Amino acid sequence: MKRDNFGSKLGILAAAAGSAIGLGNIWKFPYITGQNGGAAFILVYLACIVLVGLPVMLTEFALGRRTHRNAVGAFKELEPNKPWYLSGIVSVTTAFIILSFYAIIAGWVFSYLSRSASGKLINVAPDKLEDYFGAIISNGTEPIVWTFVVLVVTAGVVILGVKTGIEKCSKFLMPILLLILIALMIRSVTLDGASAGLEFLFKPDFSQLTKKGVLEALGHSFYSLSLGMAIIMTYGSYIDKKENIFKLAVQVTIADTLIALMAGVVIFPAVFAYGLKPNSGPGLIFITLPAVFKAMPFGAFFETLFFLLIGIAAVTSTISLMEVVVAFVTEQFNMGRKKATVLVTLALFALSIPSTLSFGAWSEVKMFGKNFFDLFDYITANISLPLGGVLVCVFGGWIWGTKNVVKEIESDGLHPFSWSNLYSFAIKVVAPLAIMVIFVHSIGLMEYFKTGLSTNALLVVGGLVVLVLAAWGLKSRRTSNEE
Ligand code: PFF
Repeated sequence: MKRDNFGSKLGILAAAAGSAIGLGNIWKFPYITGQNGGAAFILVYLACIVLVGLPVMLTEFALGRRTHRNAVGAFKELEPNKPWYLSGIVSVTTAFIILSFYAIIAGWVFSYLSRSASGKLINVAPDKLEDYFGAIISNGTEPIVWTFVVLVVTAGVVILGVKTGIEKCSKFLMPILLLILIALMIRSVTLDGASAGLEFLFKPDFSQLTKKGVLEALGHSFYSLSLGMAIIMTYGSYIDKKENIFKLAVQVTIADTLIALMAGVVIFPAVFAYGLKPNSGPGLIFITLPAVFKAMPFGAFFETLFFLLIGIAAVTSTISLMEVVVAFVTEQFNMGRKKATVLVTLALFALSIPSTLSFGAWSEVKMFGKNFFDLFDYITANISLPLGGVLVCVFGGWIWGTKNVVKEIESDGLHPFSWSNLYSFAIKVVAPLAIMVIFVHSIGLMEYFKTGLSTNALLVVGGLVVLVLAAWGLKSRRTSNEE
């Protein structure tokens, strides 16, 4: 079967940045920044992006581009007789599960967009907004319908293929996203009292930063750059050998980070200007911001623009999540793209229904003490995403080996890469250790041991695990070389 490729540099950048820039940037980044004290959190986040995010992104691009295969096929090609393909299966499954609930939140955004455009949202009294939001997400049918709309729109793009669907759509939507963001930023920073919000965002106060905040920054850097679930690997597999993937990874990382910061510049000056709290958590965009827009001149117009912005960001990300699964199904099961996309969409829709109902009728239906939405979120964010991430680091760093990754980054000598030592250290040691710390912390092992196990001790344990994995990796390499 002939594989599709991206057609232009700008198209690749728009698609990869479109994937990275999502609800994570415009919804989650501002609210976790708000909860963790603003600028100090941002500095830690930037360090995580450079030390962990960028090396992992480079590795994923290289693995995908080297093999021109889906996530499972890529590992199978590079280590045919070893069970490394399971790592691809972990990533594809993670993308599938994440999409099943990411589409629900995107559906809430679409619902707010339609309510805002029809003038309903702006008429809700600020003290009723919390109940209004609660009523929307707990109402059985409406969120299901909006989730379906999101999945169908996503499928409509994916079904057209990489060049005609994903690339064209990203090249069209990403400039619109940027223009809306700039318009909203200008609106926000010109409000009276906006400077308090800018100060909150850019003046570090380290006394607000906790260990939990640092871990959250690390986890979010991964989430925001779409790493650990084979998205970047799959997009990498549609990139031509001659492209400079280091430059591309740097561009995507910068774009993702800039857009998150710009979203902060839209949100915090406005929140402070109207005397509201920056730390309201996940409700920030659905509860706090509508109150801000209500108080603002031409608020209805800016509110609609804002939800359109998040809608665009969300859809370019759902497209990439779906592409991971569709690429896997088409190539591993030898199925046409159309049929694969329809089947994947139906399966996703079926899986999303219990999660949608978690906010209403099924809120008390629990497994392991969690409703479906929380359970899927927990399993992916805390277990399978870090697992996929560590496996990519170990595979790229120790099994396939940094020499091969660097060769691929350099396009066999075409684009000299002068950071190879730093990259190798980051991917072999820093990134897997960092991800393992998040993992151990988030699955609650820290609390479980309750022996005052410190982060330092965890680093040592993590280090030992990496060394064992490395030794095992070297041994298996030697064995396969001898064969
Ligand atoms: N990186 C995108 C975001 O920040 O919203 C999309 C995304 C992909 C989010 C994968 C989460 C995820 F696990």
